[in-house]
Amino acid sequence: MRIDGRPYRTIWTADDGATVVVIDQTRLPFEFATRRLRTLDEAAGAIRSMVVRGAPLIGVTAAYGMALAMRPEASDDAVRRAHDVLLRTRPTAVNLRWALERMARVLLAAPSSERVALAYREAAAIAEEDVACCTAIGHHGFAILQDLAAGLGRPLNVLTHCNAGWLACVDRGTALAPVYAAHDAGLPLHVWVDETRPRNQGAALTAFELGAHGIPHTVVADNAGGHLMQRGLVDVCFVGSDRTTANGDVANKIGTYLKALAARDNGVPFYAALPYSTIDWRLDDGVAEVPIEERSAREVTHLHGRAADGRVLEVEVVAPGSAAANPAFDVTPARLVTGIVTERGVAPASRAGLAALYPAEAPRGAA
Ligand code: MRU
Repeated sequence: MRIDGRPYRTIWTADDGATVVVIDQTRLPFEFATRRLRTLDEAAGAIRSMVVRGAPLIGVTAAYGMALAMRPEASDDAVRRAHDVLLRTRPTAVNLRWALERMARVLLAAPSSERVALAYREAAAIAEEDVACCTAIGHHGFAILQDLAAGLGRPLNVLTHCNAGWLACVDRGTALAPVYAAHDAGLPLHVWVDETRPRNQGAALTAFELGAHGIPHTVVADNAGGHLMQRGLVDVCFVGSDRTTANGDVANKIGTYLKALAARDNGVPFYAALPYSTIDWRLDDGVAEVPIEERSAREVTHLHGRAADGRVLEVEVVAPGSAAANPAFDVTPARLVTGIVTERGVAPASRAGLAALYPAEAPRGAA
């Protein structure tokens, strides 16, 4: 995607062919800055501190983290250590485990003398694959938006939660890929952007990238969605996912479930868009089984923002002394999901639906 007319991805290798460069998402939307990752620990730290975030990008950064880890030592032990260090960074997005297992499998099958070059090649392949998946998701999701817009006579209103755009991936995004495809094809649309407390990925990141692409959008408080749907102001919800289980349950940023409930009550279609690397074929009941990240209470008790003098500040918003809890994800049961938009097409949110799209990956007997 373009920032000030210059094309960017969210992650790339520097001219030295070794250093990994990422966009520092903790500085957006007020400052566009990049961060250089030179070691395994720096890659793990970038994921943990959410310099990079979003399920697909977490996976790609972890893959490059494995490559960085191979530079000082490429033994079997070093492969396993790097895998374990990176796996501990964040618990919910399964793209992390998927990318690490793929990297470890490829690296352990090769002689250690070849592992550095191989690791960079494989990480780059994962990144390219992510772009291809997101482009295909955009194509399939665009068809849905086109159908919904037919005969409307006004811009289509899409509601999205958190950031599942290009900043959450390598390029294009998952939930926002159809929006970009539709906008680029001249389909008039408008996006309701949930601010997405507590970290405000919607207000800070989704609004930033939609604005940079010239897409009409409005940021709303997370609590506004139900009201907007009752008033007929939302035609469709599109969200991403951090882990979708084999039966079609969709784990995504906290608050997604409430939007799905409101969508169901108001007859608004609710789609989750995700690449195959987000499907966890080992789990069959998202509500019971998906590990939900519990983040610092400080993200709830404090807010970041820019003051009138331009300084970015942290301010306290909760009565001092009150306890705060911060579950970072929730699970939307498959029955509330109209369809799952993948790189292979749109599946009903069910075990049979996903198995029909991925017959080789689905557990036997799933269909
Ligand atoms: O905590 P984050 O910012 O990593 O959470 C991101 C989300 O929940 C996204 O909606 C999700 O990763 C969708 S993937 C494009």
